[in-house]
Amino acid sequence: MGGHRGTWGSQAGFILAAAGSAVGLGNLWKFPYLCWENGGGAFVATYLGAVVVLGLPLMMAEILVGRRAQASAVPAFAALGGPAWSWLGVLGVLAGVVILAYYTVIAGWSIRSFVLCLEWSFGGYPPDAGARFPAFLADGPQQVLLTTVFSFLTAFVVYRGVGAGIERASKVMMPVLFAILLYLLVTALRLPGAGEGLRHLLEPRFQDLPPQGVLLGVGQAFFSLSLGLGAMVAYGSYLSPQERIGRTAAWVVGLDTAVALIAAMVMFSLLHSIPGLPDRVSGSTVAMLFVTLPELFYTQMPGGTILAPLFYVLVAFAALTSTISLGEVATSYLVDRRNLPRGRATILSASVIWVGSVACALSLGAVPALSSLRVFAGKEGLLATLDHLAANWMLPLGGLGTALFVGWHLPAAAVASELGIREGSPAFVLFRWALRVVAPLAILGLLILVLTGRDLS
Ligand code: TRP
Repeated sequence: MGGHRGTWGSQAGFILAAAGSAVGLGNLWKFPYLCWENGGGAFVATYLGAVVVLGLPLMMAEILVGRRAQASAVPAFAALGGPAWSWLGVLGVLAGVVILAYYTVIAGWSIRSFVLCLEWSFGGYPPDAGARFPAFLADGPQQVLLTTVFSFLTAFVVYRGVGAGIERASKVMMPVLFAILLYLLVTALRLPGAGEGLRHLLEPRFQDLPPQGVLLGVGQAFFSLSLGLGAMVAYGSYLSPQERIGRTAAWVVGLDTAVALIAAMVMFSLLHSIPGLPDRVSGSTVAMLFVTLPELFYTQMPGGTILAPLFYVLVAFAALTSTISLGEVATSYLVDRRNLPRGRATILSASVIWVGSVACALSLGAVPALSSLRVFAGKEGLLATLDHLAANWMLPLGGLGTALFVGWHLPAAAVASELGIREGSPAFVLFRWALRVVAPLAILGLLILVLTGRDLS
């Protein structure tokens, strides 16, 4: 029963809530366009490598820290490792704030797409639908409005607590999302360009992988699996001691990866089937989920007029189960470390993040100073800059810290008993080596390459 902190209702409940955090805009919006821009199959292969070598062990490591300490990240690292380790939690809180600020902007677009789809389902799909997107990006008031609505939704759920609400909602919505995605896939695979699309997506031709593709693949693995900032530490702290961490983590990782791959297959089939579509999305790659898919619904799919609005409700929900886990990180920090009551903690953190979100919302063309901000090559505007900073720097750093912490600092016996496996077993030895050596070297190597001025962009 797990004592006063409460636990997830069942193993499936945890898996779906953690998968709810993992499955989000990262899978539906980011992964397909990263694949498209970075050589297709070669990027997918890099990504899958990062998921297996770094993602799964780190997912297990985060859950393990949370369950052992029975606390969210900042107090958990402090309790198991001493006060010096709490910086790792603090870095995570900062990363959570940064990600949530821009993530909310994209999440808000799902509301607009929902409304547009209702309009299209009743009034017909206009031939210039895709061409309207750039004007929408630069529409400051509309961007701010959508962001504000989504910020409010996130804060509302976090305010009320994640417990039974999220778990129950995830159990209903996640299977529906899977079902619709599969239907999308079946439809997309019937398109004339599907074969070419799949070949582009699944055949690794490494000469097509740009050098920064490796960094982006690792960053995306962290982002998509909700790793590197302690979100899974918090979720793990509610996991019942009976559950096997390895098996549970494998489910979450598997579901997240499956959703990402299916989304990319759908997009690639479409992009290779509809003439002119690649040109329309390549100007703003962020458009894929919001421009490419309506095309499928309204021009190719039987029943698409019904499914299109429903789909964007589910995109909004997938985003919401992710924003909640991000918001929970900042809020629980203020509750645990600053002793604020949950209500005040939520309002304070949500307000700070909202200010960041508004700035990001205006960085897509509405306000020139924000839109032309350029820190990283090829990343124009505040939103793109924060995305690059968090996903490719903060999360890998957080993952590096977590790997070192669990691999070197925690006693092996404690780690083995928390995982429920013998210290000498092959699985444990593999796990430990992944955290002690493979993950740190891979992450460090990558960061050093970039820092020493290898122009990866
Ligand atoms: N994984 C989510 C996605 O792919 C985003 C997300 C939610 C996240 N919580 C996180 C990313 C915690 C990093 C850390 O959309």
